[in-house]
Amino acid sequence: MISILGAGAIGQLLAHKLTDASFECQLIVSDTDKYSSEDWQFCDLDKNISSNQLQSSVYSDTSPLELVFVCVKAPQLQSALDSISHRLGDNSQLVLFQNGMGHEVIAKHFVADQNIFFASNTHGAYRKSSQSLVYAGKGQITVGALTQQSSPQWFNQLAQANTGLAIEWASDIQPILWRKLLINAVINPLTAIHRCKNGELIKEQYQSQLLALIDETRRFAKEMKFGFAEDLKAIILDVIKQTADNYSSMYQDVVAERTTEIDAINGYLLDQMESKQFHAPHHWALWSQFHVQYPPLKRLAEENSKSF
Ligand code: PAF
Repeated sequence: MISILGAGAIGQLLAHKLTDASFECQLIVSDTDKYSSEDWQFCDLDKNISSNQLQSSVYSDTSPLELVFVCVKAPQLQSALDSISHRLGDNSQLVLFQNGMGHEVIAKHFVADQNIFFASNTHGAYRKSSQSLVYAGKGQITVGALTQQSSPQWFNQLAQANTGLAIEWASDIQPILWRKLLINAVINPLTAIHRCKNGELIKEQYQSQLLALIDETRRFAKEMKFGFAEDLKAIILDVIKQTADNYSSMYQDVVAERTTEIDAINGYLLDQMESKQFHAPHHWALWSQFHVQYPPLKRLAEENSKSF
């Protein structure tokens, strides 16, 4: 049984695709989330609409969890794992789907190092309503482990199945996580600031900021000696093209007034840039612009007022 922690866009995408490919899977949702017993709608890339009766369980259930695809956003990682910790045992394995980096620091409190995996996802999807998902851009999922180099059995079964998710194994996942982080650090805050779909970033009015950020990011990647550095401009522009119709996860968060992954993505990147004494005026300007538009205190106050 594959358990998917979090019923956001990526959690639902995995649940639909795994269910369609006859895997036994369940969504694990918070006790306070309200989902109806109706089917979960899925709008595929070709705009065909289908529905699935997805299995679900709440955090406080007691059945043990073995393989958990952790799809909550980075700011909720600690609290979501805390809420299911009574269901995790020595054999439980966590696959971390969060954007950003450094999440193993939290995961290590719950499972042993050899049971921690990372997944880098570039599929684009957004929720039209809580149980209605739009699959908006085909990407792939690259999985790797914190400690081991070879793929575990569950991975081999997934990769061989006809899920349509294009799942690959990476013996060294770190450069792939970095690549994803650098893509997200450009696309996500820009789409949140300009309140646009990914594809709209190439419009003339946003182009100079986009290109300046891409160039600064490429120079940092070069300084870090990443093999993909020289291709980074083409890589980011290609993700924008492939996911043109998608609303980035950060856009979706600001519109829904949820805490964003800005710290896990851009905060992490700026820390790394600073520790390498890398001059990054465009990324700092982006960071300021984002926080002026979405001040953390205002966001917190909004979240608190919503819970009363
Ligand atoms: O975070 C996201 O939204 C996605 O990683 C991506 C690839 C930018 C597509 O929207």
